[in-house]
Amino acid sequence: MNADLFSPISVGKLTLSNRMVMAPMTRNRANQNNAPHTLNIEYYQQRATAGLIITEASQVSPEGVGYPATPGIYSKEQVDGWRGVTHAVHAEGGHIFIQLWYCGRISHPDMLPDKQIPVAPSALQPKGDAITFTGPQPFVTPRALETDEIPTIVAQYKHAAEMAKKAGFDGIEIHSANGYLIDQFLRDGTNQRTDQYGDSAENRMRFLNEILDTVCEVWPNTRVGLRLSPENSFNTMSDSDPQTHFAYFVSQLQPRNLAYLHVLEGDMMTKQRRVDYRALRGSFKGIYIANNGYDKTRAQNALTKGDCDLVAFGVPFLANPDLVYRYQNDLLLNEPDTDTFYGGDTHGYTDYPFAEHSTAEATH
Ligand SMILES: Cc1cc2nc3c(=O)[nH]c(=O)nc-3n(C[C@H](O)[C@H](O)[C@H](O)COP(=O)(O)O)c2cc1C
Repeated sequence: MNADLFSPISVGKLTLSNRMVMAPMTRNRANQNNAPHTLNIEYYQQRATAGLIITEASQVSPEGVGYPATPGIYSKEQVDGWRGVTHAVHAEGGHIFIQLWYCGRISHPDMLPDKQIPVAPSALQPKGDAITFTGPQPFVTPRALETDEIPTIVAQYKHAAEMAKKAGFDGIEIHSANGYLIDQFLRDGTNQRTDQYGDSAENRMRFLNEILDTVCEVWPNTRVGLRLSPENSFNTMSDSDPQTHFAYFVSQLQPRNLAYLHVLEGDMMTKQRRVDYRALRGSFKGIYIANNGYDKTRAQNALTKGDCDLVAFGVPFLANPDLVYRYQNDLLLNEPDTDTFYGGDTHGYTDYPFAEHSTAEATH
């Protein structure tokens, strides 16, 4: 098999032009109604030479929000805004999935309707501060969801999946990573429930399974991707045995024949890895996207060894709209400006320069 980083690959019935995925990245630049607008269209269009773009995480309902100015995918204005993004990416020959999230305990009453307390599987307070419109504020202790509240959230995922179809996306990615609500159910450091959604790995996976069942009524399974982060400690996350638990989750996902499994390998901040990702990948027969700290050389090595089918790049795509062209031609990369990662205007968003002669630049 030709596993060149720049060779096309089929994902279900989609043919992606290369194996470079733009990783989902929250940029806090939606409008006051949490809808994407012209600025966001330009940002994604600039990066459309990626084989696949996965959008920034987008809340499935107003209750799912966790940060200022993140986009949603539940209102007409949001669908219209996203339609502009999908049209622009498709016009450049690209493909784009939307990442769906519900932040759960990684939120704050100031961010939620009627100043409600954030919800979680269990009433366990994360360390640190929530990011709110008035600045950082300590996380509160979340309210543990009642068992009979869970179907409402599952239904919100179904609605968001329908809205994503209306907005013209090629598919959806269920964000089950990085300490947001689904991940809070999956990992035993945040799930102390005693009902059918807690205790055993089978039970901790029930919420995710119900979401996958419902969104696959809207989308073909080959248009639904899933993101996991077995050992990312971001957002005060932990698990007593990630190797065993995530091997189990992956084995349960296998028969679903999803578009792909997208794994943030190791810890997002330290990049350290203790889980054996080769074993995890080896046990999974579908398309596997690797992420976290890859550059061109590491990505190509992993592809050649069969450790993954595609590689997602986060910060490199943030700072280099023409990352594909730069890697193809072994060009230097732009330096990322961390001060402008979260929130702001065009600066540090759409003003990263294209390399000379890059095809993407020629169209803009
Ligand atoms: C600014 C920024 C925003 C991010 N937002 C998200 C997000 O919305 N959803 C998600 O799953 N991961 C998010 N991540 C994590 C990235 O998708 C990726 O896993 C991480 O940057 C590691 O990949 P890299 O080493 O290629 O940058 C974000 C990372 C950054 C730097």
